[in-house]
Amino acid sequence: MLITLKLPKPKLKGALSLEEAISARRSVRVYSAAPISFEDLSQLLWAAQGITEPESGGRSAPSAGATYPLELFAFVRQGGVKGVDAGVYRYRPFDHSLIKVSSEDKVKALMEVALCQEFIAEAPLNIVVAAKYERTTMRYGSRGIRYVHIEAGHVGQNISLEAVSLGLASVMVGAFNDNAVKKLLNDEAEPLYIIPVGYRAG
Ligand SMILES: Cc1cc2nc3c(=O)[nH]c(=O)nc-3n(C[C@H](O)[C@H](O)[C@H](O)COP(=O)(O)O)c2cc1C
Repeated sequence: MLITLKLPKPKLKGALSLEEAISARRSVRVYSAAPISFEDLSQLLWAAQGITEPESGGRSAPSAGATYPLELFAFVRQGGVKGVDAGVYRYRPFDHSLIKVSSEDKVKALMEVALCQEFIAEAPLNIVVAAKYERTTMRYGSRGIRYVHIEAGHVGQNISLEAVSLGLASVMVGAFNDNAVKKLLNDEAEPLYIIPVGYRAG
C-alpha cells in the first residue's frame, strides 16, 4: 500500500535575514538527540525543491531548461522527526508530500556506506539528493551532466541556509559508496549528496 504524507504548508517568513543565515552557516558534525518538527522537515524540502510558482511549476532552485533532474529522499531516524515514523521517504514537489519508500530505519546503514561518518547516524534527518540524469541529458546531451551537478549545489545550499534559518545545522557529505547508497534508495536515481540535518550538540 502506498503511504503518502501531506506536508504542512511552508512559511514564507523566517527568523533570520538571508545575510544572517549566510553568515551563520557552518558545517556541523555533532548533533544532539533532539528531534526536529514535522514543520521543519516540510520547510527544508520546500527550500530544496518546493514549487514556488504553481502557474509555471517553477521551483525554489533553478534547473537547466526546467528539466528538474533531482529527486530528494528523507532518511528519518527512529524518533528523529516528531510525528513521523522512521524510514525512507521520497519528496513529491507537485503536491508537497512524502511517499514512504521504506519503513526501515536505514540511517545506520547510510552511515556505514558513507565512510562511517558517525554524525550521519546521529542526525535526526538525512536528506539525500539524487539525480535522474536523462531528464537533462535528453535535452542537452553530455553537457547536461554538468548542469545536474551544478543544480545539486543550488539545492544543497538552499537546504543548508534554510536549516540555519530554522535554528538547525547541516553538513554536506560527498564521500560515500555510490552503489551502496543507491541500493538503500531502492531507486534508479544516482545519489549525489547526503545532507545530515539536526540541532547542533552543546
Ligand atoms: C562537495 C562537498 C563534499 C563534502 N563532503 C564532505 C564529507 O563527506 N564529509 C564531511 O564531513 N564534510 C564534507 N563537506 C564539507 C566541507 O568539509 C566543508 O564545507 C568545509 O570544510 C568548509 O567548512 P564550512 O562548510 O563550515 O564552511 C563537503 C563539502 C562539499 C562542498
